[in-house]
Amino acid sequence: MKKLIIGNWKMNPPSVKEAENIFSGIKKVAGKFEKVDIVLCPPAVYLEHLIWLNKKVKIKFGAQDLFWEEMGARTGQISPAQLADLGVKYSIIGHSEARELGDGDEEIMRKVKASIRAGITPILCVGERVRDVHHFHFAFIKKQIETALSIISKNDIKKVVIAYEPVWAIGKNAEREATPEECEEIAIYIRKVLSDKFGPIAKEVRIIYGGSANPANAEKFLAHGGVSGLLVGRDSLNTKKFAEILEIANKIK
Ligand code: PGA
Repeated sequence: MKKLIIGNWKMNPPSVKEAENIFSGIKKVAGKFEKVDIVLCPPAVYLEHLIWLNKKVKIKFGAQDLFWEEMGARTGQISPAQLADLGVKYSIIGHSEARELGDGDEEIMRKVKASIRAGITPILCVGERVRDVHHFHFAFIKKQIETALSIISKNDIKKVVIAYEPVWAIGKNAEREATPEECEEIAIYIRKVLSDKFGPIAKEVRIIYGGSANPANAEKFLAHGGVSGLLVGRDSLNTKKFAEILEIANKIK
C-alpha cells in the first residue's frame, strides 16, 4: 500500500500569494515520489485557486472540515457537495482543534457519513488529551472511534482514514513527541476496535499518525509505528521539510 502523507496547513499562511509559494515548492518535487499519496489541506479559501494550479499534478486536496448537510440555511458552513464539486478528495474530520471549539462525537459521526456520501475520504482524527497511569486513553479512543463510525457500513469502512493524533504531542506547545512504540500500540488497538466492529475488512483501513511529525522522526513512525502515513502540521508549511518527509516515505517498504 502506498504511504499517505497529508499536510494540514491549519489557519496558515495569511495570504493567497504565500499559499501559492508553498504549493509551488511541493508541486515541483511531487512527481518524484511514486510510492506516496500526497494530500494537502490548505484553508478552504485557498482550495479553488490551488486546485486550479494543480492541473496535471499528482497532488490531491483535502478540506480541514466540512458540514453534514448538502445545502441550506447554515451560515458559515461548507458542504461536502460543494467541496466535491471543487475537486476536493479528502477532508479532515474531528481534529482536536475542532473538537476543542465544540465539535462533539455526534457531529463528527454525521460529518464522516456525509463525507463518504459525497465521495470525499474522511480523515477521522482520534486521540487522547492526556495519558495517565490507569491507561484510560484506550477506552477514550475506542469511544471516539465507535461513535464516529456507528452509522458507517462494512462496505464503507475501507473508505475511511483514521489518524491517531495524541493531543499532547501536537503543535509547538507539545509536551513531547510520541514514540514509535506508543504509536504502534495504539495502531494495533485501533485495528482491533475496527475489526471487532467491521470484521476482516478492517485490515484495509489506513491508519496514520499525526503530532509533531517531522523529517527527523518520519522514518521511525513509518517503519516502526504500525502506521502507513503521517498527518503533518507545522512542517507541511515548510516546503523543504515536507519534501524531506515525502522522500523518506517514498523509500520505506
Ligand atoms: P503538528 O500538527 O505537526 O504541528 O504537531 C499536527 C496536526 O495537528 O495535525
